[in-house]
Amino acid sequence: MRKDDTRSSRKWDERYDATDYAYGDQPNQFLTQAIEKIATQHQGKALCLAEGEGRNAVFLASLGYEVVAMDQSAVGLEKANRLAADRQVDIVTRQADLNDYEPEPNTFDLITMIWAHTPKPVRLKSYEIVKKGLKRGGYFILEGYLPSQSTRNTGGPSDPEFMFTLGELRTHFTDFNIIIGRELTRNVTEGIYHTGSGDVVQLLALKL
Ligand SMILES: C[S@@+](CC[C@H](N)C(=O)[O-])C[C@H]1O[C@@H](n2cnc3c(N)ncnc32)[C@H](O)[C@@H]1O
Repeated sequence: MRKDDTRSSRKWDERYDATDYAYGDQPNQFLTQAIEKIATQHQGKALCLAEGEGRNAVFLASLGYEVVAMDQSAVGLEKANRLAADRQVDIVTRQADLNDYEPEPNTFDLITMIWAHTPKPVRLKSYEIVKKGLKRGGYFILEGYLPSQSTRNTGGPSDPEFMFTLGELRTHFTDFNIIIGRELTRNVTEGIYHTGSGDVVQLLALKL
């Protein structure tokens, strides 16, 4: 099994049951770049989907966002709360499955999906969560691995069905202004599970 071949909630709990943060305790690099593009006074309510141990949620809370971090892993969310306490910021955690998670409609100013790899039906459900949960004028930030990443051994699932493509994102986010939409290869070094050159898609989009 590859290092990142973890699908069930139990497996994620096992992965996160360690002192170190699996993907580090610093925010995802693309998230920080995308946030810089958003007007500096932009704040409000943020929802981090599949947020694991909370590094991105804590970063957003430190910028003044009121953050909900959701994930299926109770162990991950416990570490997210610990990281928030260490950094002296507040976040709200919600243990839930993307399959049946229903956000408050038109509520969030920002929704993130960072490495939120799931089987395709769940991925499509995630897109619906984003479209429903965002306010008009709210931003969606995503970074995920491309199908070609499945043959690398630097992170992400081994099954290409779990991956994102820019084409799929464009198909599902037609009512959005795509501010950044690109596929590229970049060095992804985050914790012990993302260890180098990776094929990724990055998206920053505004709900119209
Ligand atoms: C690679 S980790 C990314 C964590 C975090 N976004 C980050 O960047 O550090 C993927 C996360 O997706 C979560 N996940 C996978 N399938 C899920 C589902 N059906 N519902 C909720 N969370 C899920 C896992 O529990 C895990 O925390």
